[in-house]
Amino acid sequence: MDFAGSHILSVDQFERADIERVFDVADSMAPYAHRHRITRVLEGAILGNMFFEPSTRTRVSFGCAFNLLGGEVRETTGFESSAISKGESLYDTARVISGYSDIIAMRHPAAGSVAEFAAASRVPVINGGDGANEHPTQALLDLYTIRKEMRHRGREIDGLRLAMIGDLRYGRTVHSLSKLLACFERVHLSCIAPAELRMPAEIVELLRARGHTVVESDAMENSIAHVDIAYSTRIQEERFASRDEANLFRGRYRLNQAIYTQFCEPNTVIMHPLPRDSRAEANELDPDLNENPNLAIFRQTDNGVLVRMALFAMVLDVVHLVNRYESRVSWYTGKRFTE
Ligand code: NCD
Repeated sequence: MDFAGSHILSVDQFERADIERVFDVADSMAPYAHRHRITRVLEGAILGNMFFEPSTRTRVSFGCAFNLLGGEVRETTGFESSAISKGESLYDTARVISGYSDIIAMRHPAAGSVAEFAAASRVPVINGGDGANEHPTQALLDLYTIRKEMRHRGREIDGLRLAMIGDLRYGRTVHSLSKLLACFERVHLSCIAPAELRMPAEIVELLRARGHTVVESDAMENSIAHVDIAYSTRIQEERFASRDEANLFRGRYRLNQAIYTQFCEPNTVIMHPLPRDSRAEANELDPDLNENPNLAIFRQTDNGVLVRMALFAMVLDVVHLVNRYESRVSWYTGKRFTE
């Protein structure tokens, strides 16, 4: 695909070569993301960062990525502080904000809303999550992390054995990641979920139609025994009719060090899009895994900045200019980033 000037709304837009191009550009962003050098390539550009659902890392990393390229960020968070709470339509909001910005990142609770907004926008729009539908930038950063983790083990994405655990029905990250994986070869996907929260059938069918193996189960322990990656997820409480309904599933799957040691192959990578629900009744990824070197969750979040920088540079068509606008860092940079 041609990234320049395009909206990024769904992983359906990508072919394998597009994904690999994003990853190569993300690699080239490391000196800037890691504060070894500065670039001002987007000086004067403005990101409209519009988040109508709770977010910590997606919102902040979109903003940081844009700042690290030299651009400015203006944002609105929540419906209460937006004119949408006065009855304004997505169309009008899109017309207005796209007049102020050069590119927009947006999260919204309704599936399809970001595409509706993009249709009215005068600048490119990047989907930061639309309801239970899609989360393309998270899927790219997840797969980018998977590629790095596997390469450290002398492997590639092709032939990957991955388990997704938890709320596979409402989890938009697993929907987008599964569709991205379908672009690769010989993936073995183990979907571990209660019957009520299974992966949507059309995604399972898509993977199978492309020759991948999908196994569905409602039990975790044996299903994580022979995987390269165990990808845990949070019960998406906000998509259920009530908290009581979500409580039926909360805490169903809990991965901790004892279970990891007993069931997983050595060096199985543990991932989670975050936030992990650390309340006692949930605790899907126990803090006793924090010292496990195979816990990749904070490598994922660091990688999110690289991938979002890559997307901004590609959509605004400045990849070839990034190092022309660079300079040295003048402050103390003792911060350690995970490679
Ligand atoms: C996810 C999301 O918002 O879909 N978080 C994220 O963006 N990293 C997952 C979640 O909220 O459980």
